[in-house]
Amino acid sequence: MKVLVIGSGGREHAMCWALSHSPLLSKLYIAPGNGGMHDLGECVEIAVHDHQTVIAFCRLMSIDLIVIGPEAPLVAGLADDLEAAGFLVVGPSAAAAQLEGSKAFTKQLCDHYNLPTARYKRFNTSKHAIDYVKTQAMPLVIKADGLAAGKGVIIAQTQKEAINAIQDILDTKVFGDAGNSLVIEEFLEGEEISFFALCDGKTALPFGSAQDHKRVGDGDTGPNTGGMGTYSPAPVMNDALHEKIMQHIISPALKGMEQDGHIFKGFLFAGLMINDNEPKLIEFNVRMGDPETQVILSRLKTDFLQLLLATAEGSLDKQTIEFHPHAAVCVVMAAKGYPGTYQKGSVINNLEAATTLPHVQIFHAGTSLKNGNMIATGGRVLGVTATGASVLDAQQQAYKAVDLIQWPEGFCRKDIAWRAINRLRS
Ligand code: AMP
Ligand code: GLY
Repeated sequence: MKVLVIGSGGREHAMCWALSHSPLLSKLYIAPGNGGMHDLGECVEIAVHDHQTVIAFCRLMSIDLIVIGPEAPLVAGLADDLEAAGFLVVGPSAAAAQLEGSKAFTKQLCDHYNLPTARYKRFNTSKHAIDYVKTQAMPLVIKADGLAAGKGVIIAQTQKEAINAIQDILDTKVFGDAGNSLVIEEFLEGEEISFFALCDGKTALPFGSAQDHKRVGDGDTGPNTGGMGTYSPAPVMNDALHEKIMQHIISPALKGMEQDGHIFKGFLFAGLMINDNEPKLIEFNVRMGDPETQVILSRLKTDFLQLLLATAEGSLDKQTIEFHPHAAVCVVMAAKGYPGTYQKGSVINNLEAATTLPHVQIFHAGTSLKNGNMIATGGRVLGVTATGASVLDAQQQAYKAVDLIQWPEGFCRKDIAWRAINRLRS
């Protein structure tokens, strides 16, 4: 099969790596890809936002299956246009991608189909929002309705912080049109996990769980990022919790989406808060997580391409998904300054030595290959991933690889997976 993967991050590198193990794969194209992917497939510079160009490329190369990695092209309707042109696609329609594109859309789905989530109210004028805040206990969570590159969520500890956030979003429009409305929700206590399901519109198969470190600094301090590291499986998971998540969150969401006329096909990513073995939905994303994909796919036993094909064709009911029992840890190396401003263009050395360590894979997120040098071109640059019998083994191996990489302009957290390791120790 000829496959086209859309995207350029660590998630897409991990997907291409998993696809490359499939005997079903004959040729892999990646648009646009990055510096780490050249040995897995052919990176092509096509303008992904121009859907007609993507369609023309797929026709020219007789592509059999297209996998869309990031949310932006999904929200923009790339899956709709490719399907209308007759192609098999993994990724939801623009209508279904509202699950990530609009917080209010997801909250309404939760209301209609009884998904457990934080209590909320939606507002589009600051006066009403502020009046409401004055009647509530703190902390409160204020969320711009639309996509705000992960920055549109403010956890307000005081009324003053809440009021400032409301005015920033609705009046000053710091998130642009993503802040034409907002939701205010109750603060959920607990431990956060990322839970994934592969969905073909009717069938949802669980696709693993992971935990992410969102803060930039050791000990989960400092500003939020896209994710500084992950581990899988999440030790807070157990069979009973798994069953509850499938029964009370994933299945009703899939059924609800179908009943409402926008079937969901692709990766459903539930961000959950777990308290006392009870899951509550924080948010849905309509794609795999990054850097969660790196650890999930490091544990996947079943042929990834076979699963993606069944997703696109609507035959997931005939599939089972198996994972290796080992643990995986991914340590993100980022450019110094991230998530604020950072320099691009520094050279990363000694990657080969790190890659040849046993049980290590280095997934690139923001690199390009120039005159034989690997150049850092992004904020999050590498996802150094290792597997091991325990999460501690995997962590130690990942940091061994990190230590071999020569990149003075980069940094990483030194404590990825601390929570899981503490839990094992106690
Ligand atoms: P979101 O963009 O909705 O994933 O929110 C970003 C982060 O804010 C989440 O990963 C949580 O850590 C936190 N968060 C969002 N909503 C809540 C909530 N209702 N209670 C507690 N934390 C939340
Ligand atoms: N790592 C969180 C995300 O991909 O949204």
